[in-house]
Amino acid sequence: MTPHIGAKPGDIAETVLMPGDPRRAKWAAETFLKDAVCVNEVRGMLGFTGTWKGNRVTIHGSGMGMPSLSIYATELIREYGAKTLIRIGSAGAMLDHVKIRDVVIAMTSSAISTPSRGFFKEMQFAPCADYGLLEKAVAAARGRGTPIHVGGIYSSDIFYDERQDLTDMLARHGVLAVEMEAAELYTVAARHGARALAVLTISDHLVTHEALPAEDREKSFGDMVEIALEAAFA
Ligand code: ADE
Repeated sequence: MTPHIGAKPGDIAETVLMPGDPRRAKWAAETFLKDAVCVNEVRGMLGFTGTWKGNRVTIHGSGMGMPSLSIYATELIREYGAKTLIRIGSAGAMLDHVKIRDVVIAMTSSAISTPSRGFFKEMQFAPCADYGLLEKAVAAARGRGTPIHVGGIYSSDIFYDERQDLTDMLARHGVLAVEMEAAELYTVAARHGARALAVLTISDHLVTHEALPAEDREKSFGDMVEIALEAAFA
């Protein structure tokens, strides 16, 4: 057990999918995994382990924002031996051609700061996806006919951001979308020798101000779970 995860040694699989929302972790485990059992419920952060096509998988919530994700990713890797971590979540589109429901696969993520900033001091570390996972996720999405964009994203600490100049500057540099966790996931995974990837569905649009209708959220989330599972085990 760790301060934030009540699982016993061996309860966590080497492959972990990480949605932000713990109830999404429950839904995904019940929908896609065989014999899923709850392995964590400390502070309401749910984790489940089961199998997908015979492969052991854990689906564990990360919470919202980089400090929360940092705690769970570090404990999952360092204390439970997780080796592959795939974030599945939502993001806001920053460019016109990135549409609601499209999937964004993050090669890298910019951030003003991350919980790891203190480690690097003057260094501006470039968080980077695992290329093998990225290639397989792209193939899985293409195989399903899902519209995808692969490139840089922005991991923000602010959901209700009022800095339009920042959004414009990032868009000008080709940043596809904004979310709140990937930069720290990639950094923590790199620090501990694990593989990481973020697969994101566009849920809102910073240019057009459209939003994904509530009734479409489950299907979009399900598509991401399947892309992540195929990427992990293809
Ligand atoms: N996740 C989904 N949409 C987002 C947005 N607009 N900003 C930050 N995180 C998000």
